[in-house]
Formats: sequence, C-alpha cells, structure tokens
Amino acid sequence: MYICPVKKIAVFASGNGSNAAKIIEQFRHHAAIKVSLIASNKPEAGVLKIGRAENIPSIILDKEKFLRGNAYTAELIQSGIDWIVLAGFLWKIPATLIRAFPGRIINIHPALLPKHGGKGMYGSFVHEAVLAAGEKESGISIHFVDEQYDHGKTIFQVRCPVRENDTPASLAKRIQQLEHEYYPKVIERLITGKSMVNGE
Ligand code: GAR
Repeated sequence: MYICPVKKIAVFASGNGSNAAKIIEQFRHHAAIKVSLIASNKPEAGVLKIGRAENIPSIILDKEKFLRGNAYTAELIQSGIDWIVLAGFLWKIPATLIRAFPGRIINIHPALLPKHGGKGMYGSFVHEAVLAAGEKESGISIHFVDEQYDHGKTIFQVRCPVRENDTPASLAKRIQQLEHEYYPKVIERLITGKSMVNGE
C-alpha cells in the first residue's frame, strides 16, 4: 500500500502570529499536512512564542543571509519543507527561494489585490489606504509569491463591506476574522490538490 508522505509547511511571520496560530491549529492532527517550522525575522515576534508553546522548531532569520545569501534554501530543503506559507512576513522573498519552491510559496494580504498592496503595505497601513481611497469594500487575497511584493497569481479572494464609520482598527478586525476563517482552509485545499470556489 502506498502511503502519501506528510507535506511539511514552514510558516514565515514577523508579527503576532494570529494567522500562524490558526494554521497550526488546523493541521495539529492532520494526516497529510504538518507545520514543521516557524521562521521569523524578529526575535521578539509573538509567533515565536506560539512555536515554542506548540513544540514546533523555529529559526530567526538573519537579514544578510536571507536577502543576499542563500535565503536558507539549503536548510529548508534539508528539513524536507514542501510549502512556505507567509503570514504577515515583511521581507521580500528572494528569487533563489522562489526558484527552489516553484508554486509552493503563498502569502495572505489584508485587502483586495491588486489594490492596496506593495512595499510598505502591511497591517494598519493597508486599512488606512483602503479608508483613504473611500473604498466601499475590502477583503483578503491569498496568492502565490513572486519576486514583487503582494503580486503573484491570485488563489483566493473574499470580500467584506467597508462601513461609513470604520476606523483602521474596526476594519482590521473584520478582515482578520476572514483571514482566520479562510487561510487555513485554502492552504489545506491547495496542498491536497483541491481548488477553492473562486480560485482557478
Ligand atoms: C495579516 O493581516 C496579514 O494579512 C498581513 O499581516 C497580518 C499579520 O497578522 N500581511 C500583510 O500585510 C502582507 N502585505 P498576524 O501576525 O496576526 O497573523
């Protein structure tokens, strides 16, 4: 009998790690997918605490090595990582890493790309831009990662209203609920080879 090997995910995150926590929860007892590594560029990032509490190995990425060295490609391959999932990771992914994981690096963005993405567009900056532009709706975008910020092919988007009296914080809360609801499911479907309704 052929037993499908477990697919290993590395989660890259720079912040609180609330999405990372949901992803870990989704795959804690999963038969085919496992979160095997947490990588962060910030030693004080909340996501590293989550990794420790869950007994998931973690690494703190060195800027020089990540951006101008081998981008940890050898180490990731050696650890048997199959997929890289960005969850609030703020460095651009170097070409070396993209070439080593073709179509297997994904990102989530808290707006409807191609609007309100790009360098410096993360967290509340995104929601401020959405409100300043007078958008009537926002949402989340899950996409493949290429060599530009927030740019690769879209896998999944879901929308929500922007309300008249929204502040960046109230909009962020609505968006975060969508992220937590959908990101783990989209990852699962992608890795197991099933596409989501509005993905291609
Ligand atoms: C998430 O809202 C994610 O969409 C955003 O960072 C937040 C991380 O939150 N990513 C970007 O803005 C990428 N451009 P978390 O640390 O609580 O998961």
